[in-house]
Amino acid sequence: MKKVRTPIIGGNWKMHRGTPEKAREMLENLIPLVKDIESVDIVIAPPFTALGVASILKVTNIKLGAQNMYYEDEGAFTGEISPTFLNALEIDYIILGHSERRNIFNESSELVNKKLKKALSVGLNPIVCIGEHLKEREAGKTKEVIKKQFENTFAGLSKEDMDKTVIAYEPIWAIGTGKTATPEQADEVHQYIREILIDSYDKKTAENVRIQYGGSVKPHNAKELFEKKNIDGGLVGGASLEAKSFAQIIKEAEKTI
Ligand code: PGA
Repeated sequence: MKKVRTPIIGGNWKMHRGTPEKAREMLENLIPLVKDIESVDIVIAPPFTALGVASILKVTNIKLGAQNMYYEDEGAFTGEISPTFLNALEIDYIILGHSERRNIFNESSELVNKKLKKALSVGLNPIVCIGEHLKEREAGKTKEVIKKQFENTFAGLSKEDMDKTVIAYEPIWAIGTGKTATPEQADEVHQYIREILIDSYDKKTAENVRIQYGGSVKPHNAKELFEKKNIDGGLVGGASLEAKSFAQIIKEAEKTI
């Protein structure tokens, strides 16, 4: 089946491989494995302390992302990172609203919304995560939760900005647990997000926006997930830490083109 959107595979390293040496080692292994891939957008998001790898990635087909940022350019915000600092490092992508940020660091959709608008205003490409808890899924509330998160997270976003935004559907119960949503479960929610996009914007926007799946994506399950019509690649945690497994996942996405 031909994909209408370019798949995007993101490697979210979380709080791993954060020293320049560890990050460089991984990337030196990854670069030759994926160098010929042109039809998939590849993004690596290391910890802030390893963003110096920008210099290694410059002449490659791998883009660099950060895992978080604040929405002000500068000021008395101890411990925060400004989007202008990231821009100076030639960062292309920014992950926002990851469930670990929402749940461990209490980030609300309203805060994510401010960050999202700021990221877009400085030219960073946002990857914005939404997803439900296990209890919510079991109570049959997945769609309700997704709709509310969508409305609050993307509130006030213009059509042009929505077009530039990548959505990552990450069911929280599938993150780092080894429990993947079945391709059917994931596709159903992706389809639902497209319906919300039609209602909030229009059909064209719904067709353009890329929606990644995230939550225990591994080389062995990537193919069946990425083959689904509404799934445009993945946001990968654990399996993005090793060059071989991450490259395999990228190659599975390439096969769906
Ligand atoms: P995982 O993480 O692949 O380790 O489940 C995905 C994510 O949190 O983005």
